[in-house]
Amino acid sequence: MKHFVRRMQALAASLVVVAAGLQAQKAPRDMDRFIDQLMKKMTLEEKIGQLNLPVTGEITTGQAKSSDVAKRIRNGEVGGLFNLKGVERIREVQRQAVEESRLGIPLLFGMDVIHGYETIFPIPLGLSCTWDMKAIEESARIAAVEASADGISWTFSPMVDVSRDPRWGRVSEGNGEDPFLGAAIARAMIRGYQGKDMSRNDEIMACVKHFALYGASEAGRDYNTVDMSRQRMFNEYMLPYQAAVEAGVGSVMASFNEVDGVPATGSKWLMTDVLRKQWGFDGFVVTDYTGINEMIDHGMGDQQTVAALALNAGVDMDMVSDAFSGTLKKSVEEGKVSAAAIDAACRRILEAKYKLGLFDDPYKYCDVNRPKKQIFTKEHRAIARKTASESFVLLKNEGVLPLSKKGTIAVVGPLANTRSNMPGTWSVAAVLDNAPSLVEGLREVVGDRAKVVTAKGSNLIGDADYEKRATMFGRELHRDNRTDRELLDEALKVAAGADVIVAALGESSEMSGESSSRTNLEMPDVQRALLQELLKTGKSVVLVLFTGRPLVLTWEEEHVPAILNVWFGGSEAAYAISDVLFGDVNPSGKLTATFPQNVGQIPLFYNHKNTGRPLQEGRWFEKFRSNYLDVSNEPLYPFGYGLSYTTFAYSDIHLSSTEMSADGELTATVTVTNTGSRDGAEVVQLYIRDLVGSVTRPVKELKGFEKIFLKAGESRKVSFSITPELLKFYNYDLQFVCEPGDFDVMIGGNSRDVKKARFLLKGE
Ligand code: NOJ
Repeated sequence: MKHFVRRMQALAASLVVVAAGLQAQKAPRDMDRFIDQLMKKMTLEEKIGQLNLPVTGEITTGQAKSSDVAKRIRNGEVGGLFNLKGVERIREVQRQAVEESRLGIPLLFGMDVIHGYETIFPIPLGLSCTWDMKAIEESARIAAVEASADGISWTFSPMVDVSRDPRWGRVSEGNGEDPFLGAAIARAMIRGYQGKDMSRNDEIMACVKHFALYGASEAGRDYNTVDMSRQRMFNEYMLPYQAAVEAGVGSVMASFNEVDGVPATGSKWLMTDVLRKQWGFDGFVVTDYTGINEMIDHGMGDQQTVAALALNAGVDMDMVSDAFSGTLKKSVEEGKVSAAAIDAACRRILEAKYKLGLFDDPYKYCDVNRPKKQIFTKEHRAIARKTASESFVLLKNEGVLPLSKKGTIAVVGPLANTRSNMPGTWSVAAVLDNAPSLVEGLREVVGDRAKVVTAKGSNLIGDADYEKRATMFGRELHRDNRTDRELLDEALKVAAGADVIVAALGESSEMSGESSSRTNLEMPDVQRALLQELLKTGKSVVLVLFTGRPLVLTWEEEHVPAILNVWFGGSEAAYAISDVLFGDVNPSGKLTATFPQNVGQIPLFYNHKNTGRPLQEGRWFEKFRSNYLDVSNEPLYPFGYGLSYTTFAYSDIHLSSTEMSADGELTATVTVTNTGSRDGAEVVQLYIRDLVGSVTRPVKELKGFEKIFLKAGESRKVSFSITPELLKFYNYDLQFVCEPGDFDVMIGGNSRDVKKARFLLKGE
């Protein structure tokens, strides 16, 4: 450390700002001066070096000393590294950057800390179903505390891609289909990661991704083409990214897909015009993994051309392609890229390091005593358990749940007794053995009050090759080589002695996530057969559904008496599931993505347009109307839906006025009553419809929500303030306006079952 400070002092002798400690409070002018001075010392190669982010997942301290990466670090050719785990290794690599490179510029250490570090929270889709912004912020806060304790200064989160296509495996990593909710979650996550100003050593830089529109890939196939109107883009997809920028996110990741015919990584319109000029983003843009080189396959030119395209578009850091490091110098010499453009990108990376306080103390995140005190602590785990229990969505319950902690409970299914599948996709820092399996968790929770027996019942999928692809990255399910019949017989024998059956079925954790698109979203064949047989026993069956996406559950809805969707709940999932199954926690999760009746309905989402030939209310088919011959337009479970062990009743809506002036405000109020016999939480949802517009408007859009807790029998008034600002949208000319006319206000416990009122927005 001393050595580092001496070096920096010598290098920037004229600097006013070298003293440690107070950097974060320093004025931006100090930052500019510091970076001006530093950049004066930098060669073109060193500036390009800052723009380079190689991957180093497997680096160890020893290897780092001699590896190619280590050499490049010493040569000042690296700006940051990612997915290197362990504070000691990170400290050593940082030491090489700081003490062995000419200018001693510290590195950024990034990682995909997506839903927790070692204390794993529910997958983001599950987390979004809590509708609890405090809990979501806290999950990011805990992730930041743990990651920073282990040397990480930068996370590639939050992922805020709106998606309406559950075939796309990465719906698991996002917040569902709604931009308003997605924006609220983006803000909460960024507050959690970055804290007030990233000055503390447990605050890290966030990276909002994937900019832009990655969730709209054609046919739900990952990395596929995206094409949509600007209308749709700005009204339905952009809001969460913009909210992240407004919340001060430090970095933005470019998406893999093309937007308007240009790969996002090379789109000046996106990275400069929209992001920086329109939204005022002042952090840096990093590509996604090999994003620059992938533009060669997109058909945008050779490596030198695509690297120049990316830099000129406004991309600052090259993740893994080595395209900036390999070609930018040549491009400057040939006049394809200006020295000023490289300076601008380099400055943004240095600014991020400055804002993180790394020039004051490059070892800020390298306190080797922190991990054992701050990672996977009892406190963090208790919070993760509570949050997980809030994320589960009770889809159906015909008097089966909650269960009693008595008798014999048979837990059957390929997901009944797996630890490694509990955390869910994108939990790279998780210690997979740390999460108890469902059977283990249940046993611990019931103690000696009940007996928990188990059997696998079936493999995950009949097709062994498919199962292999669906259980990668250490998430094995140890395929059983017995025949389907043998597995089934064993399960039926176990179930025969039980009072109730918990069927732990669905997807493995790697059936969703990156590069995990699917075309058939029904319960895998062998699991459906198992479920059928379990139901034939005549015993009560509860389906505990593991999934990273909305599945097609039409058959299950018809036949299974109780369905609890638990997503992937993280390291404490097993306890949280037990808490809900036994009623120690009353479920309150509400869906943030529509569950279709079948795959053919996709994309199916609640905030759709009306068309010129809508169905009449109450009808499901009319000739020459917008519908299908074989199935209604309705989802199986709508957006915002989720049951509780109690029930809630909504009063009619009271509007403070039925008219609002252009600068006015009105209040919509409902009284919500807990009409059941248990205490419980309810997510009260406000939707608005703009009845007439200069462009067509959705049939409803989420514009507010509040999660309330009501004791049995208790009533509470919930009010939403409605202002003209809330009614704005992008018109044909992409101006953000509201237009006078009638609006419907809808309030309810899901997007389908709502109370309605109408008001008029008056003209100027
Ligand atoms: C590719 C993924 O698309 C992105 O989300 C992730 O952050 C990077 N790989 C780095 O692992």
